[in-house]
Amino acid sequence: MSLAGRSLISLQDFSDDEIISILDLADEMAEALGWEDADQRQAPEPLDNILATLFFEPSTRPRMSFEAAMLRLGGSVISMAEAKASSVAKGESLADTAHIVSGYCDIIVVRHSQSGSAQIVADNASVPVINAGDGPREHPTQALTDLFCLRRHKKTFNGLKIGLCGDLKYGRTVHSLAPVLARMGCELVFISPPLLAMPGEIVSEVKRHAGQAPVQTEDLQAALADLDMLYMTRIQRERFADPTEYDHYKGTYILDEAALKQAPKDMLIMHPLPRVDEISPEIDDDPRAVYFEQAAGGVPVRMALIASLLGLLGGPAQRKSGLAEP
Ligand code: NCD
Repeated sequence: MSLAGRSLISLQDFSDDEIISILDLADEMAEALGWEDADQRQAPEPLDNILATLFFEPSTRPRMSFEAAMLRLGGSVISMAEAKASSVAKGESLADTAHIVSGYCDIIVVRHSQSGSAQIVADNASVPVINAGDGPREHPTQALTDLFCLRRHKKTFNGLKIGLCGDLKYGRTVHSLAPVLARMGCELVFISPPLLAMPGEIVSEVKRHAGQAPVQTEDLQAALADLDMLYMTRIQRERFADPTEYDHYKGTYILDEAALKQAPKDMLIMHPLPRVDEISPEIDDDPRAVYFEQAAGGVPVRMALIASLLGLLGGPAQRKSGLAEP
């Protein structure tokens, strides 16, 4: 199976087997990074490829983990740090920017506040494009990172009961994650205030895959009791047109030691981060809290994705880790 030359705008464009092949490769990348055994860590051979990051919105994890991933593969990175430092400030269109930047690199990672922006970049670039968040719409590489962490702990997806909690309306991570979890055989529970509920088209998509509508509730405490994984999310302050509306919702859900008393002993707690107040730092040392490990997984996952889209399998990136063509 080859993903060479493809772009990743939504995981809906990738088959289950293609997604699993990226996760398998990410496991091998983690091994090559010395995750399993520090002595096995391998230095990359130089790679003659450049990754360009176009981040029009703030980012810590995706941007740094994409850059780290490309450097770990032995390649190079160029960045357009902020839109205001670029020709976009002079009125250049996103389409033109995509056209120009694809002449400077081999693969583009883009984050932008507009829904559909990553597709515009892909339509106008001559190299593969990776969507690192297009407004409230999608965040497929976070979903891959989430799947990677979940599978390493639970060994399977099939039959897991997963709660997605918080701002399901504006949170792009859950928009990408929910349909793919349903495809992989998970049962989903959506936990949010009614006005921050999951958009109807995602609920329909989940229903189509799962064969039944996901449970939707406001009650985190009741939902907690039989989950295999709870995925907490931040109320997306920057997406509210009216700031008083944000004030109304902030602090709706707070996961702390008291709230966790009713949770199963083996329920994973995940979060795409950054957190605000929805996860109390007092539970950071709880063995079920895996969000920092989840964030670290962004590097092997993005290494696997970049290597797959660049068609590096068999090239230096693969030789470095002794990977075989899946
Ligand atoms: C998420 C995002 O940007 O959508 N962050 C991330 O990429 N890990 C989640 C968030 O900002 O709440």
